[in-house]
Amino acid sequence: MHQRDITLGSNRTGMKASPIDAGELMEAMELQDQLRTSTHEAGAGIDADTLRSDYRAEAEPVGSVPPPTNLRGMFGSAAQALAGNKLHVLLDKLGERAAYERSGTRLYDAAILKMSSETALPKGMTLAALQEIRDEEAAHFAMLSDAIEKLGGDPTTQTPCADVTGVQSMGLFQVMSDPRTTVAQALQTLLSAELIDVASWELLIQLIEGFGQDELAERFAAALAAENRHEATVRGWLATALEESAHLGGSE
Ligand SMILES: [Fe+2]
Repeated sequence: MHQRDITLGSNRTGMKASPIDAGELMEAMELQDQLRTSTHEAGAGIDADTLRSDYRAEAEPVGSVPPPTNLRGMFGSAAQALAGNKLHVLLDKLGERAAYERSGTRLYDAAILKMSSETALPKGMTLAALQEIRDEEAAHFAMLSDAIEKLGGDPTTQTPCADVTGVQSMGLFQVMSDPRTTVAQALQTLLSAELIDVASWELLIQLIEGFGQDELAERFAAALAAENRHEATVRGWLATALEESAHLGGSE
């Protein structure tokens, strides 16, 4: 059992830690700039921006949404097409939300593991409350899987936006599973996840409106209400953790 906190120490990353090295660093940056300009003017060498543009011009999109595999999906998709709607765009975003809620569940699992080895948690924060949020994320994932199934999609598909959101979340997991990170850093990470959750549910509710899925829209509104609660709760715990860490009389 332990409690980590931000301490004063021998951090030497700032330029002011060594004025001599700082001068050399600035000279090297100037040289690099000159080299870049002369390479550019001569029209020779590899320019990183040009290279990126070239790759972009030739790149395929990140995956695709599979066509419906059952009759319900085919009819649903055809009916939506008649109404001028592209069901696969909705299925892509539902797949993204499902992936996010599933990884949100895992992020909370990692948070619970981290916090359970702490000697003290911020005042007002409990493992049980963390577990409750974790269970709600898991319930959202199950509800989304149902919704995808109901629309004739395959909930086990990794859609393009699901793939992209998986890459985005990698940093969150790295911070959470890093044994050195503090409770406040873990809470800041959960806050990032929750802010994305709230905005993404809002956008999904807007998107589904045009698809005439009133029952789903209602379930999504309930999920949004839960996400707003999560965001406010995590923000409150983080505020307390920072308060306790920044001022004397806190938990040190
Ligand atoms: Fe959440």
